[in-house]
Amino acid sequence: DSALSEKLGIADHAVIAHRGDSYNAPESTLPAYQLACEVGADYLELDLQRTKDGKLIAVHDDNLKRNTNIETVYPERADDPVNTFTWAELEKLDAGSWFNESYPERARESFRGLKLVTLDQVREIAEGCAHQPGLYIETKVPEFFPGIEKDLKDDLTKHGWLDDDAKGKVILQTFNKSSLETLQSVMPTVPKILLLWAGDGYIPTKDSAPKADDESYAEYYARQEVASKEGYAEWLDYAKQHGAIGVGPSTIQTQHDDAWSSQFSYMELAAPWMVEMSHEKDLLMHVYTVDQAVDFERYRDRGVDGFFTNRPNLAVKTLSGG
Ligand code: G3P
Ligand code: CA
Repeated sequence: DSALSEKLGIADHAVIAHRGDSYNAPESTLPAYQLACEVGADYLELDLQRTKDGKLIAVHDDNLKRNTNIETVYPERADDPVNTFTWAELEKLDAGSWFNESYPERARESFRGLKLVTLDQVREIAEGCAHQPGLYIETKVPEFFPGIEKDLKDDLTKHGWLDDDAKGKVILQTFNKSSLETLQSVMPTVPKILLLWAGDGYIPTKDSAPKADDESYAEYYARQEVASKEGYAEWLDYAKQHGAIGVGPSTIQTQHDDAWSSQFSYMELAAPWMVEMSHEKDLLMHVYTVDQAVDFERYRDRGVDGFFTNRPNLAVKTLSGG
C-alpha cells in the first residue's frame, strides 16, 4: 500500500527494470541499464553472482550458455557455473550478439561484443543517472556463493549506499529462505523482499509427483491447484518473521511478445485476495514479470505496489497515465 511504500522510502507503483531494459537491449549489460536509467525506472534490478576471484557481477542463469558466446570461447567449460571463472576470463565473452540473433527487430550493431557487467558498473550507472534510481539486488543461487551477502554489504557500504540518507535506495530480494535469513542478519535495516514461486512448497498439488522429464514447467505448474489461503498466509508470515518488508510473487500475463517471457509466467501468486492478505499483514507486493500495458493496469488496479518489468519505458508511460 502507498503509505507503507512511502514510510520505507520506496516509490509507489515502483518500476523495477528487470535486468535493465532487457526488452530493448541485451539483459544485464551496460546499454540495458543505461536505457533503464534514461526512461526513468525507479530501480535497476540485477541478479548477483560472484566470480572465482571474488568479483560481484550481474548474471541471471547458473551458466553462461544462453546469453554469451561461451560455447565458442570455452567450449569444454560451457556448462560450468559462473563461480568457476575469473573475471578476466568472463570479460572475454560476448554478451550481446545472442540478442541480435534472437530479436533481429530490436538488434543494434553496437550490441555486438558487449561485455558482462559488475555490480560496481551497475551502481555507477545509477549514480550517474539524473533521477537517481535505486538498486534492486537478488542473491541468485546463493548456495554457490557462501558469504556473498557479507560481500554485498561491504561493497554497498564502501560506496555509501547503506548510509542513513540512502533509505529505500537498495532493496534486497531472494527466492532462497536461507539467504533471506543471512541478508537479515548482515543488513537488518535494508528492505528485503521474499520472491515467491509455485514450486516453493506452499502450494498444495493435485499430483505430488515431480515434474516428468518430457513435461515443460508451464505444463507442470498448470497441473497444480491454486494456493490455499492457509498456505499463502503461512508463506507471508514466514517472510515477515524473517525480516521481509514484502513479497515478490509470479503473475499470469495476458499476452507475451515472445517465448522467452512466457516461459517463466505460469502461476498466479498475486490474485486479488493475495494482494489483500499481504496488505493486511503490512507487506508490500512487487510482482514479476509484467511487460504489457493491459497487465500493468490490471495489477495496478488490484493494488500491487511495484512491477518487475523488462519494459521499464512502457511501465513508466502506462503507470503515469501517458
Ligand atoms: O527477480 C525478480 C523476478 O523476476 C525473479 O525472477 O528469475 O528473473 O530472477 P528471475
Ligand atoms: Ca532477478
